[in-house]
Amino acid sequence: MGNVILIGFMGCGKSTVGLRLSYRLRRTIIDTDREIEKEESRTITDIFATDGEAYFRDRETDCLKRLKSSANNQIISVGGGLPMREENRALLHELGQVFYLRAEGETIYERVKDDTKRPLLQVEDPLARIKTLITERDPYYRAAADVVITVDGKSFSQILDEIEENAEPM
Ligand code: S3P
Repeated sequence: MGNVILIGFMGCGKSTVGLRLSYRLRRTIIDTDREIEKEESRTITDIFATDGEAYFRDRETDCLKRLKSSANNQIISVGGGLPMREENRALLHELGQVFYLRAEGETIYERVKDDTKRPLLQVEDPLARIKTLITERDPYYRAAADVVITVDGKSFSQILDEIEENAEPM
């Protein structure tokens, strides 16, 4: 196992931080959303529209179970809603060290406001929706995390430094 896992709300920077971290630590990166899209041969938007959120959530758990038998010493970035399931939190712990990239609603909003690829944010007032969801989800992210890193106002290199300082030796 020994993976570095990045969790946090949509737009908190998991994918970008994951990519940069993969260069720094010379480890490959896996993104659960992309794995599910490959497995299903369709986009997250199509999955939500055709089969609904519950179907997608089951695919997330399946994806973690697959990773348990294949992922070693990698960076794993997971979809924003994945740590809400208790079973998934347990699987994350088994897979490696979990870093929660924590961001305020305003930070998230600035990053995702023009995005059309996140079905849960296609609503009239995305900022309000983001804030409500963060309040609901924060306790679950904390429960899943080994390390919490606040990202507001920080550069990517600062965030990477913090992850490296806290990472367990390979
Ligand atoms: C979701 C986050 C998305 C994606 C899906 C649902 C969520 O991933 O899994 O749209 O429930 O927060 P990102 O966090 O990578 O955007």
